[in-house]
Amino acid sequence: MSTQPVGIHDLSFATTHYFLDHAVLAERLGVDRDKFYLGIGQEKMSVAAADEDIVTLAAAAAKPILERHGTEGIRTVLLATETGVDQSKAAALYLHSLIGLPNTARVVELKQACYGGTAGLAFAAGLIARDPSERVLVIAADIAKYELDTPGEPTQGAAAVAMLISANPAIVTLDPQQGLYSADIMDFWRPNYRSEAIVDGKTSVNAYQKAAQEAWTDYRRRGGRELTEFAAFCYHQPFTKMAYKAHKHLLESQGFTADAADIDAAIKLTTLYNRTVGNSYTASLYLGLAALLDHADDLTGKPLAFLSYGSGAVAEFFSGTVEPGYREHIRTAANQAAIDSREPIDYAHYRALHEAASPSDGAYHATAEETRRPYRLAAISGHKRIYEAR
Ligand code: CAA
Repeated sequence: MSTQPVGIHDLSFATTHYFLDHAVLAERLGVDRDKFYLGIGQEKMSVAAADEDIVTLAAAAAKPILERHGTEGIRTVLLATETGVDQSKAAALYLHSLIGLPNTARVVELKQACYGGTAGLAFAAGLIARDPSERVLVIAADIAKYELDTPGEPTQGAAAVAMLISANPAIVTLDPQQGLYSADIMDFWRPNYRSEAIVDGKTSVNAYQKAAQEAWTDYRRRGGRELTEFAAFCYHQPFTKMAYKAHKHLLESQGFTADAADIDAAIKLTTLYNRTVGNSYTASLYLGLAALLDHADDLTGKPLAFLSYGSGAVAEFFSGTVEPGYREHIRTAANQAAIDSREPIDYAHYRALHEAASPSDGAYHATAEETRRPYRLAAISGHKRIYEAR
């Protein structure tokens, strides 16, 4: 096994063509908009157009990485999602024709609710430790969908994050310790016959906090850093207030007083993108990292904490250190542009998209041309999904 540092060499994200403002949703649901803006900490959420899905998002996120680094050494592509488009074929295989992945690669889809991307990161680190000349493309892509007119509805969203994992990374080197926790909990799930998740909201919030604490305990048992060492904490953010709740819980569970200003200092910058993108499930934690890197003063040499949670449930607490010169490699302008270039969607259109069912008769179905993103789902024909670059 190599002892070379391994971590995130590049990170790029993409989100959808549309967004819905939570003020529109609040009016529709007859609640005070501050319940969303302040209570759950969400102002907007990304909404997938008729011709967008996790493949188009994943392609848009990964393309800039391949443009910058090429494909040499990429022998594994791991796409994590809980919004898969096929029960058999890995979604990342569609990326071969869209963005030109190498044929000499293993391409696999990973699933464990919002935790899948972190599993990808851990598997990638293991592969690179075995052969540091290899690089792994990890993509986390999801479209969060709950039933209309339910408490889960304001916690939808969508995004993809692509990360190039390598030896001697340019952005974040991962520490070797990981704290793990898994348990059989029915807090959030989606049976194969449903397009919307089922959730027990309050149970899920409590399960998340317990899992975070347990994963932290395991991380410390494995020799991880002290809680006071970290410059910031990136949490999975189903809604941004959840990061605040989880951090408060973690601090108090370890005997610290959870001062609001200290929590803000540890969390706030990580929430800037999620607040307007919404829950992107597997991508959410890494959107938090992107927001932190894009907005913090110099983080060079500073340790960061990460808490990944996927309902059902698996949690992982891990850490890493920000590399000198990272600012030359992050994609602040492109990330902001991905968010700013979205178009507002009105409630009727949002609802129509939400209710639209995928055709299942095998006939040719052209998809309405809506997105202005680089890739689109052009049609479904003969039970095949047909994608095109725009
Ligand atoms: N002004 C300011 N704040 C207000 C307000 C107002 N006018 N009205 C209400 N609030 C506050 C409430 O006091 C509450 O704050 P606290 O949590 O600090 O007490 C907050 O707004 C939310 O109010 P409710 O608890 O009444 O909200 P709700 O019951 O309608 O829904 C929810 C909240 C249960 C999280 C729901 O959105 C949900 O089910 N979401 C989906 C599940 C989820 O995201 N779970 C998170 C953990 S699981 C996970 O992380 C995996 C994953 O991605 C799904």
